[in-house]
Amino acid sequence: MILAPSILSADFSHLADDVEKVVSAGAQWIHIDVMDGHFVPNITIGPVVVRHIRRITNAYLDCHLMISKPDRYIDAFADAGADGITIHTETCTHLHRTLSRIRELGLKSGVSLNPSTPASSIEYILDVTDLILIMSVNPGFGGQSFINAVLPKIKKVKDLISEKDILVQIDGGVGTDNLGMLLGLGINVIVAGSSIFNSVDPESTIKEMFSIAAANES
Ligand code: DX5
Ligand code: ZN
Repeated sequence: MILAPSILSADFSHLADDVEKVVSAGAQWIHIDVMDGHFVPNITIGPVVVRHIRRITNAYLDCHLMISKPDRYIDAFADAGADGITIHTETCTHLHRTLSRIRELGLKSGVSLNPSTPASSIEYILDVTDLILIMSVNPGFGGQSFINAVLPKIKKVKDLISEKDILVQIDGGVGTDNLGMLLGLGINVIVAGSSIFNSVDPESTIKEMFSIAAANES
């Protein structure tokens, strides 16, 4: 399991401390939610914050762009130090071209599907994609409930990927209660925001998540 804590639920006045805390507890990735107030009804952070996070950690910076026309900002996030950029299929007219550009810049390319977007939307871009992000909430906010209706989409995406070297990530409403079930369905990368940062002890929550993953593997 790759664990990607979402800093959307971190304390932004102590962001470096929160990043270091989850990385030292074992999280390999930091999930950075970028929102523009247009594609989603919330506004968060841009490349300048990514640049500062890059200075304080070697963890993989997983940038989830919930913005319209993301092709305008790919170079800026790459320049800021992102390791991977995930864009939404609903926002991008020339999806194949934009994913190719992410790879050209030496980054991992990801494509995200809203809960209502069918798995078939990724069928023709798999040759330029390193990661498929299945949204299990409507993007825009942390702390929402997991939408169970997306569960059948996981198998459909896995079937489309087949033997290709592409990670499957899930984002929204994930915690210790449903983690084992999601790993059992073949999810590789877990995003978790509020279930980690709003817990009493984020480090022990992360350790519990890795124990669940270890139990799932055995
Ligand atoms: C939602 C974001 C998520 C969010 C998840 O639009 O993409 O990454 O932070 O938050 P939780 O884990 O609290 O549902
Ligand atoms: Zn996200």
